Amino acid sequence: MTKEIQEQISYYDARAKEYDEWFYRIGRYDRGWELNQRWFDEVAVLKNALQQVGKVESILELACGTGIWTQELLKLGDQVTAIDASAEMIAINKEKLKSINKVDYHQFDLFSWRPNTQYDLVFFSFWLSHVPPTQVDEFLLKVYRAVRPGGKVFIIDSRFDSTSTAKDHRFENENEIYQQRKLNDGQKYKIFKIYYRPDNLLQKLTQAGFQANVKQTNNYFIYAEGQKR
Ligand SMILES: C[S@@+](CC[C@H](N)C(=O)[O-])C[C@H]1O[C@@H](n2cnc3c(N)ncnc32)[C@H](O)[C@@H]1O
Repeated sequence: MTKEIQEQISYYDARAKEYDEWFYRIGRYDRGWELNQRWFDEVAVLKNALQQVGKVESILELACGTGIWTQELLKLGDQVTAIDASAEMIAINKEKLKSINKVDYHQFDLFSWRPNTQYDLVFFSFWLSHVPPTQVDEFLLKVYRAVRPGGKVFIIDSRFDSTSTAKDHRFENENEIYQQRKLNDGQKYKIFKIYYRPDNLLQKLTQAGFQANVKQTNNYFIYAEGQKR
């Protein structure tokens, strides 16, 4: 594993306990009522689009994090297999969903992961933007192998918008592939953060073999659905 991939895992391990502050717009991520509401309205668009996938039997969630989207996936199917490299993230996810008891957790580095099962739906949110550009095509081919024929991939990620991150993050330009992130205690980490545009993401998903459709919300998010023929 490269030092950069390791640093990214260490960052998420260290951030796990404060991770949800980003999604729920708390503390350094609180941008005031209007922008917070804009964020939540766009989250509602994503949740609705995901539910349109309809009921499925088997779901694989990659880089599951604290379970913000795992709980949405459990509305689509009775069983989710969830992978993440961070033990801290998995522990929070487990704790949140322990009463449901329908998630099978695996702690893996996704760059060493070799899919050996096929699923009706493979889902990942805010993960593709952390895959180094040199590895993204190979990663998407692995995703393709993990989807059963006729099955789907659903992806959610960030659009470039300076108000999506913490107030004390310096926002690099849209084409920069690294960002410096800070934790609440001031610790700093360097991570990959790549912003996909719809045409670019569509091209990558098509090249991997999917018949795909890519959309954006007004400000904050890009999302895609792809089907394996
Ligand atoms: C931005 S978070 C997204 C979490 C979750 N999908 C969500 O939407 O809230 C990125 C996740 O990727 C995980 N991660 C980072 N590097 C990884 C790796 N090499 N293999 C697997 N997971 C990794 C982190 O632990 C973290 O949970």
